[in-house]
Amino acid sequence: VSLSASISSPRDHLEAGRRALLLQRFGEVRAASERLCASLDPEDLVAQSMPDCSPLKWHLAHTTWFFEAMVLAPFAPPGEPYTPFHPRFGFLFNSYYNAIGERHQRPQRGVLTRPYAREVAAYRRAVDEAVQRLLEREALPRRDEALRIVELGLQHEQQHQELMLTDLKHLFSLNALEPAYRPPLEVSPNAPPSQGWIDFDAGVCEIGHAGAGFAFDNEMPRHRVFVEAFSLADRLVTNADYRAFVDDGGYRDPARWLDAGWAVVQREAWERPLYWRETPDGLAEFTLAGLRELTPAEPVCHLSYVEADAFARWAGARLPSEAEWECAAAGLAVEGNFVGTGWLHPAPAHSEAGRLAQMFGDVWEWTSSAYSPYPGYRPEVGALGEYNGKFMCDQLVLRGGSCASSQDHLRATYRNFFRSPDRWQFSGLRLARDR
Ligand SMILES: [Fe+2]
Repeated sequence: VSLSASISSPRDHLEAGRRALLLQRFGEVRAASERLCASLDPEDLVAQSMPDCSPLKWHLAHTTWFFEAMVLAPFAPPGEPYTPFHPRFGFLFNSYYNAIGERHQRPQRGVLTRPYAREVAAYRRAVDEAVQRLLEREALPRRDEALRIVELGLQHEQQHQELMLTDLKHLFSLNALEPAYRPPLEVSPNAPPSQGWIDFDAGVCEIGHAGAGFAFDNEMPRHRVFVEAFSLADRLVTNADYRAFVDDGGYRDPARWLDAGWAVVQREAWERPLYWRETPDGLAEFTLAGLRELTPAEPVCHLSYVEADAFARWAGARLPSEAEWECAAAGLAVEGNFVGTGWLHPAPAHSEAGRLAQMFGDVWEWTSSAYSPYPGYRPEVGALGEYNGKFMCDQLVLRGGSCASSQDHLRATYRNFFRSPDRWQFSGLRLARDR
């Protein structure tokens, strides 16, 4: 036995360390999805409340399919092709990847009583073990690329963890039993903090991701933008602020609304944010802790773009552009009320004069910016090119993350996006104005 064969190089040590860290993170992120369902019974996991929402069981299976389709199959060692866990799961759990093939219709995900939740759990175990075995192989062609796509799969799963909570909230909101996902929330103090403005000078600023850490393709490349002088509110818009708009007849006056907004207000008979309810005791709000008195100091949430826009103009202000938001957020720590607090609801600001509060966490902040490619944008190659690029039409960008986002999933450059009438996400706003 040659002694030298067992002595590995510093590069091998580095490589092994990187792999070990990723495998540890793999275990943590995969377990977090299952923890979200731990207090639920299988019936909760199957129903689909609207075409935009998916059953939790589908999320658990789809995020698993992603590792089969994007890692296990394409990175299988030569001569050892990957055999899928089940030959039809690719059809059931492919979300929107045309390059991979035909699939089950999205609005029909709620009819999938099979596979059972326990079979999806077995699917997850099998794929977890296969990913682990693949990454632990001594010789793996294109290992760096495989590690990068595993990280992408984990970021993808974290996006779905947030959707699991918002989709479950929508499902529960339709049930007159008013199910609670978590124990009652402490009532926040009643006086909303007063809102101040932070001023920013005009100038060239850089936005977008550069460097070694993970980012989605839609955050790149980093590039220059010119921003006119503007001011940004030092906290999010609160329930008290928004209630003044509602009480002022905001939902009855077409002059407040974009045309697309007024159309949806009329079509859907909107009178208030998605989860606000009139009760004999006054306005209440459906939360993941059940129905609860509307708390004035908390950030308003579950607003669509058109509601955020209407409120901002009523308030004599406007929404920030994504460039303004990112210039303002540059250098701030990614701290706030994320899923890890367990609160699962936006919390009141603790404002300090001269400082931006709540930039990360609590609610996604609508911006006025269309979700478009940055100059020089290049989508991922292959099927993963469909991840972001093909959605760059008719959607608006949201920034900052929410109380359902994972803290280690967010960055100042992160671009979320939804259509202008969508409001089942934890979405709210922060005002901006010209200087
Ligand atoms: Fe997905």
